[in-house]
Amino acid sequence: MNQYFTNNENLKSNIKTIQFTIFDETYILYSDNGVFSKDGVDFGTRLLLETLLMNEMQGKVLDVGCGYGPIGLTIKKRTNCQVDMVDVNQRALHLTEKSAVKNNLIVNVYKSDAYENVEGIYDFIITNPPIRAGKKKVYEILIGAYGYLTDNGALWFVMRKDQGVKSTLKDLENYYNLSIKSRKKGFFVICATKKEKIVDNA
Ligand SMILES: C[S@@+](CC[C@H](N)C(=O)[O-])C[C@H]1O[C@@H](n2cnc3c(N)ncnc32)[C@H](O)[C@@H]1O
Repeated sequence: MNQYFTNNENLKSNIKTIQFTIFDETYILYSDNGVFSKDGVDFGTRLLLETLLMNEMQGKVLDVGCGYGPIGLTIKKRTNCQVDMVDVNQRALHLTEKSAVKNNLIVNVYKSDAYENVEGIYDFIITNPPIRAGKKKVYEILIGAYGYLTDNGALWFVMRKDQGVKSTLKDLENYYNLSIKSRKKGFFVICATKKEKIVDNA
């Protein structure tokens, strides 16, 4: 099966545009076969953005698993943050680049498997994580964020109840102070700030 997070160059391309309206602004985003939520921005992504952007944001932002770009591009439009966006899916990266140009937004877009090619540290790491890539990869992104956040930085993510949000929160407890910022239709938006020291239960 072709998963949205694999690079399948044989998958027929059919680039189209979708409109995404949030906070009374409409973005034209390019989408294609083989990317996540290709027909319209995911409800969880929207809830994450609506919740996150109620807060003031400053500094550097990393969008991990950017897909065709709704998270990073909306943040860039609404804040003065530097926004970096990574994904493993080359097609998604290409779409994000096209959408950035279309919406007159300057962001840094590059390929990275989780943090493999990420350098430096960030004030915010934001993700709608790739559940279908498996728990190990999701934890690599969520727990791995610890090492790429400033001391006062925050990881924000969205996850559904039936995707195991409760057990994920339990597993993140040793690393982060966790707060549920919103919940709707089974989706939870979580803000995780770094604990001063990782708790070692061993
Ligand atoms: C649930 S989608 C979210 C996409 C986009 N941020 C959105 O909200 O529409 C997860 C994204 O993570 C990407 N992904 C999967 N495995 C990854 C990995 N190992 N490193 C980085 N990104 C990955 C997928 O290609 C996909 O675009």
